[in-house]
Amino acid sequence: MPAKKKPAPLHPDLSEVLLTEAQIMRRVKSIAGEIKAVYGDGEFTIIALINGAVMFTADLMREIDNPVRLDCIRVSSYGTKTKSIGTPQIIHSLTLDIAKRHVLLIDDILDTGKTLKLVCDLVRELKPASLRTCVLLDKKARREVAMEADFVGFDIPNKFVVGYGLDFAERYRNLRGIGVLRPDRQNAGAWATG
Ligand code: IMP
Ligand code: MG
Repeated sequence: MPAKKKPAPLHPDLSEVLLTEAQIMRRVKSIAGEIKAVYGDGEFTIIALINGAVMFTADLMREIDNPVRLDCIRVSSYGTKTKSIGTPQIIHSLTLDIAKRHVLLIDDILDTGKTLKLVCDLVRELKPASLRTCVLLDKKARREVAMEADFVGFDIPNKFVVGYGLDFAERYRNLRGIGVLRPDRQNAGAWATG
């Protein structure tokens, strides 16, 4: 019998794979069911926090058959660091009118909670009919402000992760799974030396 082929590693810069593409896709489908159970058949407006939430939002939206509208907000990112620095800033805001609309805010990961809190505060000022939040990953150990998401894909340990939209210095977003970035790759100059 031919030897069983080992699955190809996600990326050599990862120390471990946390979530495979198949695990993510299964959970995305089940979160879509949870969302559907809350909204029924009604219309709602999705606001994705870009760039991190692009993959998750694209996959999740396609599992939902409600009438949905889509808008995006861009918040300042980590730059080339793996630790959240200071207060996040809104760089690009909404174009759709969300007054009296049901809003679902989507982000890739809930970490200190500062980003989601900032965006929730901004959205609330625009008087939506309702506001709920959905994150693929939740790093509870790192929370600095009181913030919990209404829908959570996976609770993960306090490790810096990349893939499926999540980046380090804009790299690794295109990996199909999610993994822990090797410590020796956690500085922006690391790639210059290969
Ligand atoms: P927070 O404001 O500290 O909750 O940070 C949220 C944002 O930080 C997320 O939208 C991500 O863009 C980024 N972030 C937090 N943890 C990670 C990580 O482990 N990998 C990649 N990005 C992260
Ligand atoms: Mg982000």
